[in-house]
Amino acid sequence: MKALITSGGRGTRLRPLTHTQNKHLIPIANKPILFYALETVAAAGIKEVGIVTNQEGTEVQEAIGDGSDWGLSVTYIPQEAPLGLAHVVKISKDFIQDEPFVFYLGDNMVVGGIKKFIRAFEKANSNCHLTLAKVKDPERFGVPEIKGNRIVRIEEKPAVPKSEYAVAGIYIYDSSIFEAVENIKPSARGELEISDAHQYLLEHGYTVTYSEITGWWKDTGKPIDLLEANRLVLENMKGKADGFVDHRSHVAGNVVIEKGAKIVNSHIRGPAIIGRRTVIENSFVGPFTSIHDDCVVRNSEVEFSIVMSKCQIIDVGIRIEGSILGHDVQVIHAEGMPRTHRFMIGDQSIVEIA
Ligand code: G1P
Repeated sequence: MKALITSGGRGTRLRPLTHTQNKHLIPIANKPILFYALETVAAAGIKEVGIVTNQEGTEVQEAIGDGSDWGLSVTYIPQEAPLGLAHVVKISKDFIQDEPFVFYLGDNMVVGGIKKFIRAFEKANSNCHLTLAKVKDPERFGVPEIKGNRIVRIEEKPAVPKSEYAVAGIYIYDSSIFEAVENIKPSARGELEISDAHQYLLEHGYTVTYSEITGWWKDTGKPIDLLEANRLVLENMKGKADGFVDHRSHVAGNVVIEKGAKIVNSHIRGPAIIGRRTVIENSFVGPFTSIHDDCVVRNSEVEFSIVMSKCQIIDVGIRIEGSILGHDVQVIHAEGMPRTHRFMIGDQSIVEIA
């Protein structure tokens, strides 16, 4: 069994963060989203992984290298343009050859691993094994229509969903998927849709089976999904204190304090993670917050947020909540009169003032 992992796409719903970085490298609990996918396939015993990348940019290659950190052998497969997930499969045929494989969308996060799905695929002698997750907004996803315990139809982002399930971005295929991706036409948005390939398999008598993901699953397409994924990962993480905590500080709940971090006269209420060399001083860091390396939080309060590396949050008079700060961002108190907000904000940023 091999694995094929996506790391391309434009990440338009995550702008401005994705103007300067690949969405798959956005940190969740201080670790790039894509690393979780690698850990998951490695834990399933897979060794050979193809990572499909954007033609331009080498950040993914730089972050992952040859995959040996995960005990994997990684082959990079450039996609000339974002022409759809079925196109990703199509261009990966040389790498996959005739082996069964897991197709894993690199911006999906799942807890509990994928071994059980591989086992179900093998046991059912399936051509295509899908993972389904119950969601509130199926119209955002591929949606199955289920009769009895069989999938009878799959539609991509239907206006009127036929079930409350999303097809999650973890699929297991044998080589019949290559026949499907060769025979479908681009959709209205000009992409070769993976749902159309699944529908092709259903219509041509192939065995399409499924498992329900009963733990949590997240497609990290939107800002709130990032915060939710961050919350879930932090909730499942074990605390440790490798950094310095002074005697006036209180650290409660599951908190990871990385090496070189300094907590001075502050409250950290977990689950939370404080990155290397980050200084938290006279501040409150509330639950579900990740603060990456080399940040300073002084005289401020942050909760339910993702703060990337080298940020400064200093003398901010109101609690920062539900926020995502990119790398090297400053949120600081403005000196002098008049009492104003002063902004220096990049394209497509969002500022909400209460
Ligand atoms: C893609 C697939 C969709 C699937 C989803 C899962 O959607 O097209 O069928 O349900 O991933 O993450 P996209 O994220 O490209 O909109």
